[in-house]
Amino acid sequence: MTAGGTTSVSREIVESGQRAAERSGESAGGESKRAAFRVWRGDSSGGAFEEYTTSVSEGMVVLDAIHQIQAESANDLAVRWNCKAGKCGSCSAEVNGMPRLMCMTRLNDLDLEKAVTVEPMRAFPPVRDLVTDVSWNFAVKKRIAKFKPRIPDAPDGTWRMAQSDVDRVQEFRKCIECFLCQDTCHVLRDHQKHDEFIGPRFLVHVAALEMHPLDIENRAAELRQAYGIGYCNITKCCTRVCPENITITDNAIIPLKERVVDEHYDPLRRLVRLFRRKS
Ligand code: SF4
Ligand code: SF4
Ligand code: FES
Repeated sequence: MTAGGTTSVSREIVESGQRAAERSGESAGGESKRAAFRVWRGDSSGGAFEEYTTSVSEGMVVLDAIHQIQAESANDLAVRWNCKAGKCGSCSAEVNGMPRLMCMTRLNDLDLEKAVTVEPMRAFPPVRDLVTDVSWNFAVKKRIAKFKPRIPDAPDGTWRMAQSDVDRVQEFRKCIECFLCQDTCHVLRDHQKHDEFIGPRFLVHVAALEMHPLDIENRAAELRQAYGIGYCNITKCCTRVCPENITITDNAIIPLKERVVDEHYDPLRRLVRLFRRKS
């Protein structure tokens, strides 16, 4: 690149920095602008939105704004978080009505001309303010039949697996248990079928076990009955909100549905099962 080219690139960087500062409302002196937030305050007996304003600047995420509001005007505001890096799954909430991780939702991506609403996940009971009781999810996980490996392939206790089989389940292992997919699923959120449907997060967990090249447990009957896979009508809303970009419906739920159909509705398999039962 010529010296002239370098100068023009530098000027572009300076100008785009100025434009970004203008968009975020920063003046030349680095002063930040103020934005409004409607934050749900309450507990299991009820609550309401309260409005707060705080200063915002380039690079801030919703969790930063909530922490500022806590420090400046609402010391008793309850919010759950741990890593601030999108990896612990603790800061799940609804931002402008969408299930999101607060620590990964940049204010730059929101319309700050209007108040930003921040409320707890609706599929779970509220504890206080932005904190919900997600313990139902841990109880569901305990109900799922555990990993059961086949006997080792070699006398030294090791197994042989095709790399493609190993790769297939890696995607499911990225789950951070944020439960945003559970929150957005209409079967849980709107129809409250918590007793009959385990939800997309745990269908991902079952897929990770069922497709594991060593696992020999058969969970097809539970999928159809206790886990309620039939309630899922493949709307793909869960896939759209997953912060780990797990293709929940196409790669986990649809193959599990196919497995259930193969096991329970395939006439040949039914005959074999009947024959086995009689013999
Ligand atoms: S695809 Fe199935 S599990 Fe996912 S949100 Fe829709 S109904 Fe729920
Ligand atoms: S599958 Fe995705 S959205 Fe659901 S709990 Fe795991 S990381 Fe969160
Ligand atoms: S604080 Fe850990 S995911 Fe947001």
